This record gives sequence, C-alpha cells and structure tokens, in this order.
Amino acid sequence: MSGELHAVHAESDLSLLARIHAASFDEAWSEAALRGLLKTPGTLAFAAPDGFIIMRLASDEAEILSLAVAPGRRRRGWGAALVSKAATLAHRSGARTMFLEVATSNEPARALYRRLGFAEAGRRRAYYGGKEDALILSANLPLMPLGNPKASTTVATQPRGNDRDAD
Ligand SMILES: CC(C)(COP(=O)(O)OP(=O)(O)OC[C@H]1O[C@@H](n2cnc3c(N)ncnc32)[C@H](O)[C@@H]1OP(=O)(O)O)[C@@H](O)C(=O)NCCC(=O)NCCS
Repeated sequence: MSGELHAVHAESDLSLLARIHAASFDEAWSEAALRGLLKTPGTLAFAAPDGFIIMRLASDEAEILSLAVAPGRRRRGWGAALVSKAATLAHRSGARTMFLEVATSNEPARALYRRLGFAEAGRRRAYYGGKEDALILSANLPLMPLGNPKASTTVATQPRGNDRDAD
C-alpha cells in the first residue's frame, strides 16, 4: 500500500476531509462534525492526498461511513486503495463482513464496490432526501483483490499515476 495513505489522527487532516467531502456530497460534513464522528468508539479513518475513507468497527462487522476522492483525482485507483486498506484493517481486527449504503443512482461507487466483490444485501426505500433508495451492500472479508475485467490477470490495488482523465 502506498505510503501516501495514512491513518487520520492529526487535526490538520480534518480540513482535507471536510474539503473533499464538500466537493463530493450534497450535504457537506463540517470539520466539527468530522471531529465528533472520529471520536466515536470504533471509528477509524484513512486519508490519501486527495481522498479519504471513514469506517466503523463493531464486533465482527465493519461499516463504511463515508468514502470520497476529490473530483479531479478520480479513476486513478485511490477509491479502491482506500476501501482495500480499510477492509484489510477491519479483517485483521476481527471483522468478517463489511457493509455500506449507496444511492441507487451512484453508478461510479456501485461500479467500484462491484469490482471489489460487494453484493446487494438490502434496500432502504426513499432513504436519501425522502426520495432516493439506498442499497445496502455487503462483502465477506477479506475482500477479493481488484480484478481487471478486461484481462484474465489480477491487478494490484496500488493507485495509478496521474496520466488518466478524471471524471
Ligand atoms: C466512488 C469514488 C470514491 C471512486 O473513487 P475513484 O478513486 O475514482 O475509484 P477508482 O479509481 O479506485 O476506481 C476503481 C474501479 O471502480 C470502478 N469505477 C470507479 N469510478 C467509476 C466510474 N465513474 N464509472 C465506471 N466505473 C467506475 C471502475 O471499475 C474502476 O476501475 P478502472 O478505473 O480500472 O475501470 C469516487 O467516484 C467519489 O468520490 N465519488 C463521490 C463520493 C461518493 O459517491 N462516495 C461513495 C459513497 S457510497
């Protein structure tokens, strides 16, 4: 895993997380909200230079609470690297299953999770804004390595270079 991906401890990381969250979601989480969330028992976060993941561990389950990569830095492998890092740590900590919620219209996230082996485990109707359904996805841990569907080989989850167009 890249040395650029680190556990979030420092106060300075919170502004990065808040900035990327605001650029990625309709309802931005403030630094104060993130600080409070990260103090909740079992909650862990990892940050890359332009992305982050927050998850919660409870008993033998892990839940992804938030994941985002800055808009101009997507499709370079950071999202997969962040999920893989969190899943590896969760598995080492005793988690056997990882869960998350994703909006039905969020095709990029659904494609990422599909590639990593997540499958639909349920649905919350009108969960987002009283309108859009949330899909509950789950995967057994450890996650499968990120496979390349265009080839028969398996590729690593290391982020790629900066040579690709962003979304
Ligand atoms: C979802 C998100 C985190 C993905 O991050 P990312 O760094 O772009 O993802 P990766 O580069 O690791 O993508 C890995 C694979 O996921 C799939 N994928 C990711 N984005 C995709 C897109 N826009 N369209 C189709 N497939 C996509 C592809 O299979 C991709 O592999 P490939 O690039 O070799 O084809 C990013 O789009 C994001 O921050 N979105 C806004 C916030 C959000 O929706 N978070 C998830 C909430 S549940």
